[in-house]
Amino acid sequence: MIAAVTSVGITTAIFVLISIILIIAEKRLADYGECTVTINDGAQMFERTGGVTLLSALYERKIFIPSACGGKGSCGYCKVTVVEGGGQILPTETPFMSRAELIGGVRLACQLKIKEDLSIRLPEELLAVKEYRALVSRVRELTYDIREVTFELVEPAEIKHRPGQYVQIMAPGPDGPVFRAYSISSPVSDHTHVQLIVRLVPGGIASTYIHNLSEGDEVVFTGPYGEFRLSENPNVEIVCVGGGAGMAPISSIIRSTYERWPDRRCQLYFGCRSMRDVFYLEDFEKLAKDHPNFKVHYALSEPGEEDKWEGDTGFIHLSVDKWLDPRDRKQAFLCGPPPMIEAVTEVLKAKNLADEDIFYDKF
Ligand SMILES: Cc1cc2nc3c(=O)[nH]c(=O)nc-3n(C[C@H](O)[C@H](O)[C@H](O)COP(=O)(O)OP(=O)(O)OC[C@H]3O[C@@H](n4cnc5c(N)ncnc54)[C@H](O)[C@@H]3O)c2cc1C
Ligand code: FES
Repeated sequence: MIAAVTSVGITTAIFVLISIILIIAEKRLADYGECTVTINDGAQMFERTGGVTLLSALYERKIFIPSACGGKGSCGYCKVTVVEGGGQILPTETPFMSRAELIGGVRLACQLKIKEDLSIRLPEELLAVKEYRALVSRVRELTYDIREVTFELVEPAEIKHRPGQYVQIMAPGPDGPVFRAYSISSPVSDHTHVQLIVRLVPGGIASTYIHNLSEGDEVVFTGPYGEFRLSENPNVEIVCVGGGAGMAPISSIIRSTYERWPDRRCQLYFGCRSMRDVFYLEDFEKLAKDHPNFKVHYALSEPGEEDKWEGDTGFIHLSVDKWLDPRDRKQAFLCGPPPMIEAVTEVLKAKNLADEDIFYDKF
């Protein structure tokens, strides 16, 4: 019995010793020293002790790049072009890369650890992204799980964004701050406020945080980000398709459009399960009365008898298929869950929309 206890004790001691040696060895091996990160041929340069991800090193220098999943390696948004250094691309990165990106040295900043001097390229637009402090100025419950939150900017006091762009909110997580992307729903003419439409994801860190905010609370976010580019040509018709919180960028696009081009042709397709999920319908119907070239199509996929719904039923891509005229140049903006985006994209392509005229954010 005593011999057995002694042998277990010796084995445990050996394991502890090996673990300590491995930790020390890893620390020594992982001592990459000071590394230089050069951005856009020297437009910006900084030194950083190696061993951290490029994403966090950039963030420390207040260089903000899209990172919708907060660095978890699951969104593929944090792409940078590596000109020199960085080693081999990792298996966690390749699923997000096209052939051209693989050849062109594109990497995910949240997966790439700084271990040597690095030279990278970033779009100029990203170097203008800022960190904002803002106060909650209004909260409105739109449905049982979707709320609209308006922030008044404090520092900087103004923002300039394009229709359909998003910000990344900082929310307190169990292991420190996390960042999540939320599209701006306010029109681009409002430079002093940022409005969001946020669906509560059960157990979700950032959406729960936003759903618990009250008027006067302070938040921090970075932005604006995003690739949506509304054509400046008023003859190009706009098609917006969304579901749930996907209304946010669509609301900004439609409101911004009619402030600038009152006669522009635009169609809204919005998919809901039942009347419980419907919001903004009356506002858009009023907008359509004021702007006859604006057409509104809401569709319910699971209408109840009590809903007394007389409009379209079924998934929203069926409404797009039913109402969208394939003639004339159009740009489409899609926001919602991936299956919706895929089904709608197929319909749009069948109606002659080119790939470069279809923009989407999956969420
Ligand atoms: C470009 C972009 C713009 C976005 N804009 C908006 C917006 O305007 N409004 C908005 O509400 N959201 C938007 N999102 C989604 C948002 O960024 C968050 O992913 C979402 O709010 C969940 O974050 P969370 O921290 O609450 O959940 P997490 O803590 O990240 O996740 C908790 C759990 O829920 C699951 N989960 C995560 N997201 C979803 C989801 N959407 N549905 C179901 N389960 C989920 C996770 O897998 C996890 O198991 C956008 C995303 C992108 C990429
Ligand atoms: S931040 Fe999402 S993949 Fe890098």
